[in-house]
Amino acid sequence: MGRSKLTIFAASLQVCLHVFRTRTNQSEYVGGVLIGRKLLPAKQAPITPAAFYKSFTARKHLTPAVRATMELLTSTDIQERKQVVKDVTNIGASKPGANRRAFMTKGLAAGTALGAGLFGSRLALAAQDPDDDDDGGSLTRGDAAILRFLGALEILESDLWEQYWELGGTQDNEFAPATGGNPFYTDALTILDGDMAQYIHDNTDDEFSHAAFLRAYLESKGAPTTELDLLDGTKFRTLPGSKADGSSGKGRLTNLTQLTIDTSFWTRYRDDAHNPDLDPGFTFGQAVKGLNVGQHPAIPRSNDDTAGCSIGNETDHLKAIAFTAGFHFAFIECGGNSLYPSLAQRVSSRQVLRILLSIGPTETMHFQTWQDKAGNATPLTDTDPITKATVTFADLTKNQPETLQANLIMPEPTPFLSRKFPKCSIIRPTATRGAAMAALMGFVADGLFIGQSQEFFELVRDLAADADQARRDRG
Ligand SMILES: [Fe+2]
Ligand SMILES: [Fe+2]
Repeated sequence: MGRSKLTIFAASLQVCLHVFRTRTNQSEYVGGVLIGRKLLPAKQAPITPAAFYKSFTARKHLTPAVRATMELLTSTDIQERKQVVKDVTNIGASKPGANRRAFMTKGLAAGTALGAGLFGSRLALAAQDPDDDDDGGSLTRGDAAILRFLGALEILESDLWEQYWELGGTQDNEFAPATGGNPFYTDALTILDGDMAQYIHDNTDDEFSHAAFLRAYLESKGAPTTELDLLDGTKFRTLPGSKADGSSGKGRLTNLTQLTIDTSFWTRYRDDAHNPDLDPGFTFGQAVKGLNVGQHPAIPRSNDDTAGCSIGNETDHLKAIAFTAGFHFAFIECGGNSLYPSLAQRVSSRQVLRILLSIGPTETMHFQTWQDKAGNATPLTDTDPITKATVTFADLTKNQPETLQANLIMPEPTPFLSRKFPKCSIIRPTATRGAAMAALMGFVADGLFIGQSQEFFELVRDLAADADQARRDRG
């Protein structure tokens, strides 16, 4: 729903609220008269609920959503009426500067439940505190916020991994209809490892499973998932994605064609003297300097990017795209590798802790695999014809310092918590303060959301802020 439509929707609901107030302020049912959008003083004439409803649905200017709202307002169940009044009040109260997500998600919740006329949805609506879109159901509010943010990121991850899978993964119908793949891109990826297509498939499968689980768990606890509905729906799937052979061509949440990849994760895990948690000002070196500058495609945007390729003999341009993907895989999964342990420190429920401790290490397994494969990139230099960005891949398997050497994939022991302790081999960083926003901003800086709407940014930023406000309940 666009911004203007939301505004109209909210205005319409405000009219309904006015009607309701007029009606409930009286001792009996009292009708009102709508002229345009203006409600004239009600006549003191008791009417039945059915007659009341009919008097308004007869007005042609009423939208289906407003009519459905009217139907709810005439319900004989006072709790249901109170519920919808609170929702309408919240929507109408949304002003510039107010919580944007609350406005968007309440619009969605009301629109879904009312527009569809699904009275069963009222139960779900009633299970939530309508004054609080951050309600946690039977979870603490903080736990719900953390799971909701992680669920959102997993949806975003699923979207980007699905794009990689369509073009470069093993093709089956396990989690989405097979597209046939892009044979040249798939083959170029095998330079990194002969099993790349299978690994891409399985990483994608994992992300879909993470997103689905987190959403189902939140729902099972009665915690709202309206933000996840928004991200799962079509509203933000507006980015064009690839037009190359193998792409489904559907709209995307994420952009894999203009990436600026911070490859410092590479040296961060090979450095035995610095830990980002203890040395926040320290700059870790890049594995591939060129990827951290300019905008690089990690998928073929069209068949132009695969032109001149044959199987077993891809152009340096397509190889550069495949190698860019290889480092991007590691960058993305390294984010989850830190994020889960960082947020786990602030959850309250042991079961939620178990969830974070069980999903997090799978991100680490992904990261470890990907950094091993990325190190197999072969030397080449390519300048992208569209973005004009240049990248040079060196042979990291030979004659490299320890901070770059490809096969040093086990984390080097490093200072942890305090330098008074012996060095320890650990995930890094894991500081919990601001971890959600840092992860999100890392993805933003990566260029993953180039082309997304302001509403999208506000939604995900709000989710991150809520997750970072979560505090462990020591009770
Ligand atoms: Fe994941
Ligand atoms: Fe992941």
